[in-house]
Amino acid sequence: MKAAFVYLFIALCFIAFVLYSNQPHRLKSKVHRNLHAGRRLVIRKLSIGRDSKHENVAFDPIVASFERKREDRTWEKEYFQEQFKQWSKDSEPGHTHESAPHPQSQPEPAEWDYKDPEDFLNDEEHFNVSSRILTLFPLIDNHPSDGRISLDELQDWHLQAALTEAEHRAIREMEHHDKNHDGMVSFAEYLPHSELEDEANRSMEHGGVGWWKEQFDTADEDGDGLLNAKEFNNFLHPQDSRNPKLHEWLRKQEIRERDHDKDGKLNFKEFEEGIYDIIKLHDEGEALHSSSDSDSSARREANAKRRFLELDKNKDGFLTEDELVPIMDNLHPGEAYYAKQQAEYLISQADTNKDGYLTIEEMLENPYIFYSTAFAYEDYEEYYHDEF
Ligand SMILES: *[C@@H]1O[C@H](CO)[C@@H](O)[C@H](O)[C@H]1NC(C)=O
Ligand SMILES: *[C@@H]1O[C@H](CO)[C@@H](O)[C@H](O)[C@H]1NC(C)=O
Repeated sequence: MKAAFVYLFIALCFIAFVLYSNQPHRLKSKVHRNLHAGRRLVIRKLSIGRDSKHENVAFDPIVASFERKREDRTWEKEYFQEQFKQWSKDSEPGHTHESAPHPQSQPEPAEWDYKDPEDFLNDEEHFNVSSRILTLFPLIDNHPSDGRISLDELQDWHLQAALTEAEHRAIREMEHHDKNHDGMVSFAEYLPHSELEDEANRSMEHGGVGWWKEQFDTADEDGDGLLNAKEFNNFLHPQDSRNPKLHEWLRKQEIRERDHDKDGKLNFKEFEEGIYDIIKLHDEGEALHSSSDSDSSARREANAKRRFLELDKNKDGFLTEDELVPIMDNLHPGEAYYAKQQAEYLISQADTNKDGYLTIEEMLENPYIFYSTAFAYEDYEEYYHDEF
């Protein structure tokens, strides 16, 4: 009886949610005062899921928190629909239903409707980017607090924010997999049974069950067969973890994927075919800008050879796992890598006197540079045309 009510409740929520999400965007009644030159701060729709592309983290924690909220809603919607499908399946005779969605993950249209956060961001009375920068400056300028922000400080700022975001997503994803709600994820919970049972699917190839299992076991630092929140986060983001075994595992994968003759190391040909193009992009930085004919096949061969020799420390003609260490940031960029890029970009844009540091004056001169993840130049008219 009680269960019937729960189902009814879920169904009603679902219907309400579908109705709500199909409603057209309400016309934003407020006329925004700070559409400087058609500039409007927006909250990005971040793509979610394992294979989504990397997005730079927001400079301002307030913007990040709005983005997170929006992302959570999107995730909840997907999660909820999946649960609903599962429930419909489970409620066929012979099935028992185990996991109702957590009450907190149910949509609350009323709260979301309460204030459009984009209106908030674009209302200078509430959200003044200059005073935000004045507030944030001392928090970033903290090693040492010398009145100027260095590349290191700005990189750290973005890195900490990115790691916090990643952890938040990992917890959310963990909730999704943790079917028995014990706060741990087992391998069977992580991969659906249909895949586990498929023998052909135990392959060690990238994405095969054997491959996932190995990554899972490597992330399982205490070896209890279950991943706790920290281990699960490391499992999802091995390149950002502090587990040296995971870093080793990543390097092993790099070799394994390209090692056609299966000797456990890469010869020049395997390197040139599988790795050179990836690191070339990073070496040249702006490979897109270089004209394609500048890379004739002879030149390409010579460059590849040079890079191979540089990496092949012991000069035995092969690259081993350890010899890949210097290029792992290129093969598997982690948050530290992106945070550095982002900091370099912001400094290059805002450092007017080109001394390599940002002062509060420089930042206030062009505050919107720091909101570049969050602003769009949008013609006011166009904005509303797009909406309808
Ligand atoms: C925004 O903040 C700056 C610095 O605190 C101040 O000078 C400016 O008047 C503020 N702008 C608005 C519209 O409140
Ligand atoms: C594993 O099995 C599933 C379901 O049978 C299939 O969809 C998937 O493509 C398989 N994956 C691999 C890597 O073979």
